Parts: sequence; C-alpha cells; structure tokens
Amino acid sequence: TASRAAGGATFAFDPIGIATDHAVHVPAGYRSQVLVRWGDALWSEAEDAYSAEDGVSVEMSDKVFGENTDGMELFEIDGREVIAVNSEYVNPKINLPAASDGVPQTADEVTLLKNLQGVTVMEIAKGESGYAVVKDSPLNRRITHETEMTLAGPLAGHDLVKTKADPEGRTVKGTMNNCGSGKTLWGTYLTCEENFNGYFGATGEMPEGEGYIRYGIGGAGRYAYEKFDERYDLSKEPNEPHRHGFITEINPADATATPVKRTALGRFKHENAEMVHAADGHIVVYMGDDERGEYLYKYVSANTWAEGEASDGLLDDGTLYVAKFNDDMTGEWLALTPEATGMDAAEILCFTRMAASAVGGTTMDRPEWVACNPLKAEGYCALTNNKNRGVKPNAGGDDTSVNAPNPRETNNYGQIVRWTPADDNHAGDAFTWDLYVMAGNPTVYNNTYAGSENVNAGNMFNSPDGMAFSSDGMLWIQTDGDDSNEGEFAGQGNNQMLVGDPESGEIARFMTVPNGAEVTGLCWSLDKTVAFVGVQHPGGAWPDGNGKPRSAVVTVWREDGAAFG
Ligand code: FEO
Ligand code: CA
Ligand code: CA
Ligand code: CA
Repeated sequence: TASRAAGGATFAFDPIGIATDHAVHVPAGYRSQVLVRWGDALWSEAEDAYSAEDGVSVEMSDKVFGENTDGMELFEIDGREVIAVNSEYVNPKINLPAASDGVPQTADEVTLLKNLQGVTVMEIAKGESGYAVVKDSPLNRRITHETEMTLAGPLAGHDLVKTKADPEGRTVKGTMNNCGSGKTLWGTYLTCEENFNGYFGATGEMPEGEGYIRYGIGGAGRYAYEKFDERYDLSKEPNEPHRHGFITEINPADATATPVKRTALGRFKHENAEMVHAADGHIVVYMGDDERGEYLYKYVSANTWAEGEASDGLLDDGTLYVAKFNDDMTGEWLALTPEATGMDAAEILCFTRMAASAVGGTTMDRPEWVACNPLKAEGYCALTNNKNRGVKPNAGGDDTSVNAPNPRETNNYGQIVRWTPADDNHAGDAFTWDLYVMAGNPTVYNNTYAGSENVNAGNMFNSPDGMAFSSDGMLWIQTDGDDSNEGEFAGQGNNQMLVGDPESGEIARFMTVPNGAEVTGLCWSLDKTVAFVGVQHPGGAWPDGNGKPRSAVVTVWREDGAAFG
C-alpha cells in the first residue's frame, strides 16, 4: 500500500541525499509545507500574537501553538481529525527580551515560558491548500505547566507526593518536558514527562537523598522558576519533583477533561509510551528512560482488556518490568516487585530507576522511542548514543561497561535493538533479541564504528531517536544527532527521517530537516495520505526566512495523492 513498493524495489520512493541547508527536503514526487509554527494562533483572538521582533506576549502565550514540538498522535473524534502534540521545552533566549540573556527577570516572563510548553490539542482540517488548524474549535486546548491534573495509581496519596498546596497528594499542577507520545487503544493521548528535573531549583538548603541524585535534581533550575514560584523551590517543596516524571493521559475528545498522571507506569525521564495489546489480552506499555546508562521498561496491566470494554484501572494496576539482555541473544523482563527490589510499592514507582538497578537490568545507551511492528509481535528501541559507555557509571553507580546490545565504547552513533517476545506474547517474561541496525560511518571507519551491514555511504545517519511504524509494517526512524557534517559525522548531513524494512534490513533516507533541527514526532491523517512530522529547534530563520527560527509541524504528501502511511 504505502511506503513499501509493490514488487521490485523495496521502497516506494527514491531515497534522497544529505542536506546541509536550512530547508526541508522530501523525495521526488512528494511535497511538504508547514502546518503550524510556534506562536501560531489556536484561537482567533491570538491571530496577531506572534511578531518576528518580540515573539509571543505573555497575554497570548496560552492561546498559541507552543515551542519545540515533539511527540504527537492523531485522533478521530466525531468525524473530525484532532492532533495532540507536545511542546517539550522553550528556548529562553528566543522568547525573552535580549537584555535578559535568557534568564527570566519577572513572574510574567516565567509565566510566558510555562505557557509555551506542555501540550496542544488542535483540530485540523483539509482545505484547498492542504491541512490547516481549525481556529476556535471546541476541541482546541492548551495544557501547560499550570494545568490541574489528577495523580492516579498506587503512588497517589502517599507521603512522598504531599505538598503544602496539596496535602492529600492527589492533585498536581502541570506536565513538564513533554517529549515522546503514545496512543491508548481506547483513543486517549499519552504525554511523556522527560527531563522534569531541570525545572526545579533550591533558593535555600537543598534536601538530601539518593532519590534526588539519581534523577539529577538539584542546583539551579534551567529557567529560574524557583525564584518566582515556591512550588519549584526544592528548599520549600522537596516533594514537588516526586509529582513529575510520569506518563500522563489526556482525553482529546473533551477540552475540559482533567489530565491524569499514571503513577503505576513509573517515574523516570520518559521518552515515549508504546502501547500494545498482548496476545493474552493484557495491556502492555513499553517505555524508554533517556539518560546515559539507564534502562528500558515495560508495564503489564493486572487485568486483561478487549475492544469495547471499559479501560478503568488498566493503567493504575499492573506490574513494571526492566529489560535484561543476555549475551546469547535471549532476554528477560525482570519484575520490579517489593520482594525483588527491597523497596515498597510506592518507592518503586517514585524511584523506579533505583528499583531497576536493584534487580540488575541492562544499562542502555539512552533508550529513546519504542515502536512495535503492527504486523508481528516485535518491538524496537532507539538507543540514541552514549558517550559515557565504557567510560563511567550511571548516576546510580551502575556499571556501564560495554554489553551485548550496547557493544561500543563512547558510542557516538547509536543503534536500534529489536526483540521478539516468546510465544508472540508481549506480556510474557522472555524474549529473543538482535540489533536491527548499528548506525555508523563507513567512510570514516573500517571497524564497528562503521556501523552494521545495512549502513552505507548513501543512507548513513547518527543518533536514532523518534520511531513509528506505518500500517504496512515499515519502520520510520527520526534522528536527533550531530549535524555538523564534519569529522566522524562527515557525509551524514542534517538530521533526517529514514524508512527501514524490518524483513530485509534495508534503510533509505526519506526526509532531511533544516540544519540545527532534529526531526521528532510522526503521525498520519486518517486516510494515510498525509504525514505530520515535527521539526524541533531549527536553526537559521526557518521557516519564515527572516526573524526567529520557529519549530513547526510540517505536512508531507504524495503529489499523486496516494496513501503512504
Ligand atoms: Fe526528549 Fe530523549 O528526547
Ligand atoms: Ca527524543
Ligand atoms: Ca532532543
Ligand atoms: Ca534525542
């Protein structure tokens, strides 16, 4: 149907070369254009919110598309197409007056930064000039660092998550550093809280404990929130960071629904959340923890589910597992239980990294997105890179010498690991694995840093990150790496999106993004004729050609209008 050619060549497109410019490139016969940029209006009143000189005003900052787009998913709601999309972080030097040098000087400036991050839910519709955001749709919504949410699951109500503002430990403000995404089988959005640690700082004495050290919490907050808002001040609210770092569920069909933080899925620097329906009926969610030498996890619901049944409790009652990869290409999922970890159930969910260390999971080269093949029981995780592999332990002191799925010291290129669950059951404990690809540079190296056999001078890349399958079982790979095109990255050009064939191993370059940008986030229109692709932190003055660089979601389609997703 789609990205796989019918007969003959593997791919239904002619692979493109590298680029080093400030433009988006797609194959011959395909087109692309910007759908929505940072600062574009979601409601008519914000039509003029953005200016090339000043960016967005604080008054309009929660009525526009946020900055630094990341994971996204598309939903069909009452016949309409709705995209939920993350804004992972802000560039303070772009958003704040030049005199502030990127450090907020007022509470209003902090509010501006808070509002331009989080999640956007927006209706889109296809018109004569392609897809556009439907301004003023009742489904449009901004969710920010101040939006009220519910804390659910076993950690809710525990002493570890109580604060002055929330003595019950059940109501939290904000979802932060929303990186990758997920889509539940019942049609809700999962937003994944990654580097939440960076939003907290201490104006006075820093609380002590391994739980802060392991998550990198301490020092000064990256946006100085703590100077203007006590909630972010660790010396005043030591438990506030325990309320972030979760998978948060959002109902895109109701703009008034309260988002729910699902503590049963663990607390770490979540990349994405890939949900699959296991052969035995359980709900399984695969999740990466993107930090050097951290772990790959999965959650398995206690109850089974069938299409059409209520989803209540499925993400609140279950078991977390960490992956252990053996040298003989087998592996097992180790359950994070009180017996196995020596921690109580709440501690396991609050300090999940420490639980994974306690049971001896396999330290990984920064697990980013997980994607599961829709045509067979098979999972893939992008291990983006790890300059510390074989150099120093992780923040928990775990050994990070080379191991079978992370076989290269000071790994600057990354790899994609693939596993097949025993009995094709994603809920089971055993699997076999291999490396789908080791990225590398065969024009610079003639050893393992050249990459695996499916990497060549014509398709090479570094730092795989985002991943998603199209319905035809092809793996789309997005990169977030070194785009200097120099030294060991010579010949790799700007960040890119490639398509991989799981069966043959072949990989072909489909898209390149402007220099400075990474490509992250991918979903398709309901009819699969249009892909929505995220371009984060572009350089130059893309896409306007003047003024500030603006992260954006672009659409990509075939000139003949055929489906390709
Ligand atoms: Fe936000 Fe690990 O990427
Ligand atoms: Ca990423
Ligand atoms: Ca990134
Ligand atoms: Ca990355």
